[in-house]
Amino acid sequence: MPTRFIVVFSQRSNLALLGKRLIYKMKQLIWILLTAMTLACVVNCQLSGIVIPAFLVYDEQGTVWLKDVNCSGTESKLVNCTFNNDTSVSYHSQDIGVHCFFSCFTENEGNLRIISGAAANKGRLEIDYKGEWGTVCQDNFENVDADVACGQLGYCSGMVMPAFLVNDGQGTIWLKDVNCSGSENKLVNCIFNIDTFYSYHSQDIGIHCFLNCSTENEGGLRIMSGPAANKGRLEINYKGEWGTVCQDNFENVVAEVACR
Ligand SMILES: *[C@@H]1O[C@H](CO)[C@@H](O)[C@H](O)[C@H]1NC(C)=O
Ligand SMILES: *[C@@H]1O[C@H](CO)[C@@H](O)[C@H](O)[C@H]1NC(C)=O
Ligand SMILES: *[C@@H]1O[C@H](CO)[C@@H](O)[C@H](O)[C@H]1NC(C)=O
Ligand SMILES: *[C@@H]1O[C@H](CO)[C@@H](O)[C@H](O)[C@H]1NC(C)=O
Ligand SMILES: *[C@@H]1O[C@H](CO)[C@@H](O)[C@H](O)[C@H]1NC(C)=O
Repeated sequence: MPTRFIVVFSQRSNLALLGKRLIYKMKQLIWILLTAMTLACVVNCQLSGIVIPAFLVYDEQGTVWLKDVNCSGTESKLVNCTFNNDTSVSYHSQDIGVHCFFSCFTENEGNLRIISGAAANKGRLEIDYKGEWGTVCQDNFENVDADVACGQLGYCSGMVMPAFLVNDGQGTIWLKDVNCSGSENKLVNCIFNIDTFYSYHSQDIGIHCFLNCSTENEGGLRIMSGPAANKGRLEINYKGEWGTVCQDNFENVVAEVACR
């Protein structure tokens, strides 16, 4: 009994050791990959990254090395920029961050998708930007912007799905203050702002794309979920999609028209 116990025990600790080594190797690999990506991003791209303000960055301990860093943009290394090394009155709460782009340009730049919707044509709007999928903030996002997004996705038109009806996304919030004229064929061709530091995922916008914009034959009605064929929930086929009608101001005279 004791011998067997020792064998099992030592096998377990070997496994634990193996696990630790694996995790260490994985961490090393991830670190190498991230470093390579960051270097690639710093070396190869014109527009390689943006600032993350100090208040969004976890504070480090130890030395604050540089302040007043001033690059012209042509430097291949940060140390080649001018800076001040007198950081005696700098605090870690002022530690700056960077958001490096995974890639500067891909042919997928500006691709859109609809996520977490009950149906394929409505849900949270996401955009593939700088090689990374992210969300869009509700600020100033209007029906004309939803229209352009839906058009890009191959739908005929669409409207805004307010943020409070949308499941919150994760990761980067790419755009805010999207301002389309309506004639753009891609959302990235509209005006927008990428300073989204004060945006939250609770503000992620959604879109509801119309399945059919033809007004011909629009407005078909049906009665659903009732005890009999002639009574139940009223539904209307609108923009190519069956939906319901809200009770507000719905009076007998309206029911009369519906039943005709
Ligand atoms: C950065 O350096 C340039 C060139 O030396 C100078 O004109 C500019 O004022 C500096 N910017 C800041 C913010 O110090
Ligand atoms: C950057 O600095 C290194 C030394 O730190 C120097 O060898 C190199 O020539 C500099 N490159 C540029 C572009 O200034
Ligand atoms: C700070 O910069 C000055 C002037 O460039 C230099 O003489 C000094 O050695 C630097 N100090 C450190 C700690 O790098
Ligand atoms: C959208 O862009 C147009 C044209 O540049 C401008 O006139 C309008 O004020 C902008 N709207 C918003 C909400 O920024
Ligand atoms: C859109 O509606 C029109 C008119 O009712 C109909 O002829 C057409 O087939 C519909 N298109 C789709 C894709 O459902």
